[in-house]
Amino acid sequence: MKKIAIMGHGVVGSGVAEVFFKNYENIKRKVRDDAEIKYILDLRDFPSLPYSDKFTKNFDDILNDPEISLVVETMGGLEPAYTFVKKCLLSKKSVVTSNKELVAEKGAELLAIAKDSNVKFLFEASVGGGIPIIRPLSQCLAANDILEINGILNGTTNYILTNMVKESVDFDCALRQAQSLGYAERDPSADILGLDASRKICILASIAYGKHVYPKCVFAQGINQISLADLEYAKLAGGSVKLIASAKLLDSGKIAVETSPAFIPYSNPLSSVDDVFNAVHVRGNNVGDVTFIGRGAGKLPTASAVMSDVIEALARPDYDPMLSWNDSGSDFIIPHESISHRFYLRLTSSDFSRLDTIIKNSEKIAQSKTEVALISAQTSYSELSKISSLLADAKITVASAFRVLE
Ligand code: HSE
Repeated sequence: MKKIAIMGHGVVGSGVAEVFFKNYENIKRKVRDDAEIKYILDLRDFPSLPYSDKFTKNFDDILNDPEISLVVETMGGLEPAYTFVKKCLLSKKSVVTSNKELVAEKGAELLAIAKDSNVKFLFEASVGGGIPIIRPLSQCLAANDILEINGILNGTTNYILTNMVKESVDFDCALRQAQSLGYAERDPSADILGLDASRKICILASIAYGKHVYPKCVFAQGINQISLADLEYAKLAGGSVKLIASAKLLDSGKIAVETSPAFIPYSNPLSSVDDVFNAVHVRGNNVGDVTFIGRGAGKLPTASAVMSDVIEALARPDYDPMLSWNDSGSDFIIPHESISHRFYLRLTSSDFSRLDTIIKNSEKIAQSKTEVALISAQTSYSELSKISSLLADAKITVASAFRVLE
């Protein structure tokens, strides 16, 4: 009999319990043994649940119980999740987590502790919710150099951008709708400023390149400055705008990592991934292009990914998931200023006479007396900043600027 514990009975934790009981026979067959949830850690009481007897408020009940071989962490946030997970791994208990912040900030350290303790630290649910991406990237695509990863990794922002276009509403209105439907948090800043998606690309890039990419090393530009006009110009130019988290291997052997809005032409499958769906495009040097699409958040899709890790850890305790990366500083990541793209720009002014001498070789999407939307030639972020100063001198305001995903 395998005995497990769940820490945190919020949306994801309660989903894990639901999936465990609903699919119990299937899980038992795959684990090839009986399994039981012995404890659920939560500070709240849930007296009406059929499994209310399993709740504890005391983490030590789990830590000190030698029958518990695996702990699921679905509390979210860095603390106390980090302290609890570290103690579990040091006590030779495997840990399965959905916590992207924990993995993005502490992954290298926790993987090393798990290795030393000869237990598992698994986190399929931390990126893309129910989409299988951690295991495909680390195992199925192991024979590839990963040339590029581009992902729609945040459901809230994808819902907001989709809804702005569908309902012809501005950002604030679409955000309020996302909040009323329960997609966006009351404080949605981690989603809309791109921090949540950045944590997720850090995890994918760390797997792909074997070195810990920390969130503080990733340039993040959110979607809070995107206007309905930008989305309409994008449509006119034959594409859509999505918040894209990217990691790219450069000829120098270094990588470029960023999270920012991007104009995506309709020829790219990511352009039509709408609503709360997530998608990850991976380019390998042997496999070519592979795209994963599915539900990136939500109770049961995320619990599905958590339980896949639980089943793997219980069924194959000696199986090496090939998940590891080193703590290697940040020299392998190029500074954001030197990342180069074509850029979408929306400019406002009453006098555009100097525009073409400042921005050369651009493709105009639309031009009126007071507004121009264009796509620039290949330009680095540092050159873009110089161009913005020259435009300001010419009394041309940059109302919007974001990259084009080629
Ligand atoms: N806030 C996240 C999102 C939840 O909107 O995608 C899933 O990580």
